Amino acid sequence: MEFSLKQSQPERARSACVIVGLQEGGKFSPAGQALDKASSGYLTQLAKRDDLPAKAGSCTLLHAVDGIAATRVVVVGLGAAGSLTLKGYRDAVSAAVRAAGSGGAREALIYCTEWEVDGTSVTDRTRHAVEVAAECAYRFDSLKSIKEPARGGLAKLALGVSSRPTAAEERALQQGTALAAGVALAKDLGNLPSNVCTPGYLASTARDLGKAHKFKVTVLEYKDILKLGMGSFLSVTKGTAEPPKFIVMEYSGGTKKEKPVVLVGKGITFDTGGISLKPGEGMDEMKYDMSGAGSVLGTFRAVVGMALPVNLVGLIPTCENMPSGTAIKPGDIVTSMSGQTIEILNTDAEGRLILCDALTYAERYDPAAVVDIATLTGACVVALGNVATGMYANRDDLAKALEDAGHASWDRVWRMPLWDDYQEQLKSNFADMANIGGRPAGSVTAACFLARYAKKYPWAHLDIAGIAWKSGREKGSTGRPVPLLTEFLIRRTQR
Ligand code: BES
Ligand code: MN
Ligand code: ZN
Repeated sequence: MEFSLKQSQPERARSACVIVGLQEGGKFSPAGQALDKASSGYLTQLAKRDDLPAKAGSCTLLHAVDGIAATRVVVVGLGAAGSLTLKGYRDAVSAAVRAAGSGGAREALIYCTEWEVDGTSVTDRTRHAVEVAAECAYRFDSLKSIKEPARGGLAKLALGVSSRPTAAEERALQQGTALAAGVALAKDLGNLPSNVCTPGYLASTARDLGKAHKFKVTVLEYKDILKLGMGSFLSVTKGTAEPPKFIVMEYSGGTKKEKPVVLVGKGITFDTGGISLKPGEGMDEMKYDMSGAGSVLGTFRAVVGMALPVNLVGLIPTCENMPSGTAIKPGDIVTSMSGQTIEILNTDAEGRLILCDALTYAERYDPAAVVDIATLTGACVVALGNVATGMYANRDDLAKALEDAGHASWDRVWRMPLWDDYQEQLKSNFADMANIGGRPAGSVTAACFLARYAKKYPWAHLDIAGIAWKSGREKGSTGRPVPLLTEFLIRRTQR
């Protein structure tokens, strides 16, 4: 979808559809008032007759309104006056864009940035509108031979403004567009099946991105990974013929002396569980076990699109977790790059095994902060469902920064404990630690495992098992937490 800012009078704009808001009690947004006046009070009349529901998110499509140049008008309900939340705002934009699209318009002009939401600025609302509208337009049909017809979606959306767009508004539009591209990339990668989206595919995606946007990408192959001593990572890849990769991305938008932020993404392109095989039902969804990696790539896409002044490193350990005659077995003991030994009691707890070596590798950057992102545990899905990311951190200021970024981007996290008491569960009789801590607090003990490898820098872990994917009829990748990570990085440039 194409986005622009458009300065025009709502009643004069020759658009296929103009979108305005209506509060309960019959009060139109400023653009709505202009349309009402131009149509000699027609909109007010309809509202009085209860023909224009103002309930939050309900939409009415009107055709050929006298006195209004646009072909269609969509009136979207904003609920009670002063009650609009960021969620309500996003839902209203989404509903209106869908109503315009399914009403047959291919382009629309929306006056949403004037809909006031507590704690947000016009530029915030611009960025959210672009993100949400792009979400509505997203399709994943590259693997269908017959594509759905074009009707039912907007190709262009203009954001209406009353005076000449400010530099901040232009920047917000550009940031929204870059973010949407990053989210779409993460979704595509999560949706692609594992026979297409292999470790090699993730590596070429990284390389292409680096070439297009001039940042450095290095892909370490099996022998390089072996030389580094990543015995834990390599134990996971033993059961598959698909070669593993360790992808390193380095973007230098900041000053030379500024320490980088390192993002580490879990890149299991398919998780069968290995010898500790998963049950068959729903196993197809384990193609999204590379969503941590996808969100790192998506965040890079967003950050380079915004040319953010930050130094950013992306690390992606990526492989398949398969059972075979050569696979690791329960009870096997491996030595991680850090020198710590691990008794693998369950081969299905493989995410932490590839991440721990990447966390050790991250030490060489003397990072300002390391954030790892992983579809790590089913237990996190049980704890927080599809709403919040499970967040763990060894520094309070880093935790707070992620919480704040989560609220601002509406891609929220909930902090979970990393208390030492839980470390007990990882005791092994035969090695320095076991790779599982039993059923209780499964998401916490996974984080506690990782904490043992992240002692040398400020670190946060995001368990995205519940939020990276939507199950059910409309199943697919959500592109989260690209909005969170991007907002977190934007805010670091504003300190
Ligand atoms: N990739 C899974 C976690 C997962 C489960 C992600 C459901 C998304 C949805 C991970 O590798 C895994 O299998 N974890 C195990 C850990 C257990 C063996 C300690 C789990 O959660 O069951
Ligand atoms: Mn697993
Ligand atoms: Zn997994």
